[in-house]
Amino acid sequence: MKQIFARKPLSVLLDEVKSENRLRRVLGPVALTSLGVGAIIGTGIFVLTGVAAHDKTGPAIVLSFVVSGIACVFAALSYAEFASMVPVAGSAYTYAYATLGELFAWIIGWDLILEYAVASATVAHGWSHYFQDFISIIGIKFGHVVSNAPFDFNPATGLLSSTGSVLDLPAILITVIITIILVKGIKESAGFNAGIVITKLAIVFLVIIVGAFYINPANWHPFAPFGYSGLSLFGRTILGQTGPGGAPVGVLAGAAIIFFAYIGFDSVSTHSEEAKNPKRDVPIGIITSLILCTVLYIAVSGVLTGMVGYNKIDINAPVSNAFKQVGLVWAQFLVSLGAVAGITSVLLVMMLSQARIFLAMARDGLLPTKFFGDVHEKYRTPWKSTILTGIFVSILAGFLPLRVLADLVNIGTLFAFVVVCAAVIIMRKTHPEAERPFRAPLVPLVPILGIITCTVLMFSLPEENWLRLFGWLAIGLVIYFTYGRHHSIMNRLMKEEEVTSDVGKVS
Ligand code: ALA
Repeated sequence: MKQIFARKPLSVLLDEVKSENRLRRVLGPVALTSLGVGAIIGTGIFVLTGVAAHDKTGPAIVLSFVVSGIACVFAALSYAEFASMVPVAGSAYTYAYATLGELFAWIIGWDLILEYAVASATVAHGWSHYFQDFISIIGIKFGHVVSNAPFDFNPATGLLSSTGSVLDLPAILITVIITIILVKGIKESAGFNAGIVITKLAIVFLVIIVGAFYINPANWHPFAPFGYSGLSLFGRTILGQTGPGGAPVGVLAGAAIIFFAYIGFDSVSTHSEEAKNPKRDVPIGIITSLILCTVLYIAVSGVLTGMVGYNKIDINAPVSNAFKQVGLVWAQFLVSLGAVAGITSVLLVMMLSQARIFLAMARDGLLPTKFFGDVHEKYRTPWKSTILTGIFVSILAGFLPLRVLADLVNIGTLFAFVVVCAAVIIMRKTHPEAERPFRAPLVPLVPILGIITCTVLMFSLPEENWLRLFGWLAIGLVIYFTYGRHHSIMNRLMKEEEVTSDVGKVS
């Protein structure tokens, strides 16, 4: 019991920052913000906006983006405080270890695999479909057998159906390419990312500015055809209308889906160890990237639902298809090209972050240190865990359906946000004197609001998400009790301390 609630002392974490075998400090505020934007704008805005507006919200999707954005701002302020205090690689995992103890830290580290690795697979899937769309405009096609996962999930019936394909080859190929880039090094990766982020932002501005000329205000009426609420509890609607198959619809139900679009700002905190001035630049990176993306999302979704009636929005490639529908084929071409580039950078940052979480867990002995903690001599990157992440992501992306993957990611990430908000309140009580270069405002109000808003979004997701989350966490607990608990460095240190104090008693 003592071990599973053992907290990692803040002083130990700060000593670790100074120790050897660390990653190279090469990232400034612009590179960190760019990593944030690189991780945020992707499948969420380019793909999921269509499903949410078409099936759950109508033009009121703009409000869904506001609600989700507010929940993320509360969580971001909490992340920023921690990232400035403890600038090491583990993000929410490390914060939980310092405040809630080892078992909770393990649970969060395990949960973050849902956020980063499973999200990477979701994103690779989304990339594949946009890529195939794009090359079809120039007349090239992948064979059906290698163009999709072998089965898909129908949310209305709850059944799996065959797609006729065997695997999603483009999703696997892009994952392999990104893995190679990541093994080569963070500096090269950050440079590659910055180039893509500029392209992506240019395309988003093109959508907003050119699209604004094609808005027909009549498309915004009715504004909220599915209502303004949409709250459910374990899949049962408690406020608002229900859609086909009893699924919740309305602004909150839409917010729970498009929350995916915001995931990624927190990944900036996983790069604290590579930041030149982490205490100042990491909070800047987190908050600037989130606020920038929130404003862009509200604008893009407003323009999109103004250009095309919500019931005519394409659910596979909604943004580029809107331009097709208004007759601007050149814009459709540019937007789909930009979406491919944009989704690529999301994949890059998500996979980069996963390897760093593994690294932090390995350093604590909760995962095999020799493998996950090995930093490459020449490239200074956690190359083995990067390759393992690449293999895991390509298998998921190649063979599992996008909808099943995306479902898991949102609930797992919301759970991590709730824990980080709670951890900020605990840390203020247990370590009031610790140096906090960035302080979240109005604590405990802001983290409490973060906990409430993220929990409401978790409850607005369908029931099967909860079952999958519990199943995943149960597997994690088995691994902790059979491996991590016995190999934990904290455990060893505690045993050594006991031996020392016993020797003291005897003498
Ligand atoms: N926010 C990221 C995306 O939308 C995960 O692709």
